Parts: sequence; C-alpha cells; structure tokens
Amino acid sequence: MVLVTACNSAPSRPMSSGERLYRAKCTSCHRVYEPHEQSPQKWAATIDKMEAEKKVHLSPDERAEILGYLGGSSALR
Ligand code: HEC
Repeated sequence: MVLVTACNSAPSRPMSSGERLYRAKCTSCHRVYEPHEQSPQKWAATIDKMEAEKKVHLSPDERAEILGYLGGSSALR
C-alpha cells in the first residue's frame, strides 16, 4: 500500500474523519488552511477564536477530532 500526500487541493487520498469534519465545518468561509500552517497550540487558539466569534459551533467530540487532524496528523503520514 502506498500513501501519497498529494500537494494539490483536491483530496485524492482517503480522508480521516477528522479531516472530513474539518473540511465540512471549517472551509465554507475561507480556504483550506493546511495543518502545517500553524502549530497545534495555535490551532487550538484559532478554533477557540472561530467559536468565540460564533463562526462555528463544535461539540467537544468534533473539536477533538478536528484538532487531532490539525495537530496530530503524524499518524496518517
Ligand atoms: C462562518 C464562517 C467561518 C467558519 C465556519 C470558520 N471560519 Fe475561520 N475565519 C472566518 C473569518 C471571517 C476569518 C477572518 C477574520 C478573522 O480572523 O477573525 C477567519 C479566519 C481564520 C483563520 C486565519 C486567521 C487566524 O486567526 O489565524 C484560520 C486559521 C481559521 N479561520 C480557521 C478556522 C477553523 C479551524 C474553523 C473550523 C473550526 C473555521 N475557521 C471556521 C470565518 C469562518
């Protein structure tokens, strides 16, 4: 099995549930920010900010899944 981390924006590889949730919840208003663009700590703060500004409502589970994708994606690479 070969895992390809493609650089184009169209996801051709299977998405984790965290990534799918992130794309569903977080990319309707702006471009898809890539996980490596911010540190895990910064991502947590960014999600807090999006929630504080009422841009998005996440359950604790959804938040954890999205953060897992954004900050802890090493398991997928
Ligand atoms: C309803 C629209 C909307 C949704 C949904 C949304 N955002 Fe945003 N986001 C914005 C707007 C507007 C800005 C720019 C203004 C600002 O920075 O507050 C922004 C800015 C950002 C930025 C760049 C600015 C910064 O603070 O670094 C990031 C990263 C980001 N959003 C991540 C997310 C994530 C992660 C989610 C999902 C949890 C999300 N956004 C959901 C509207 C949205």
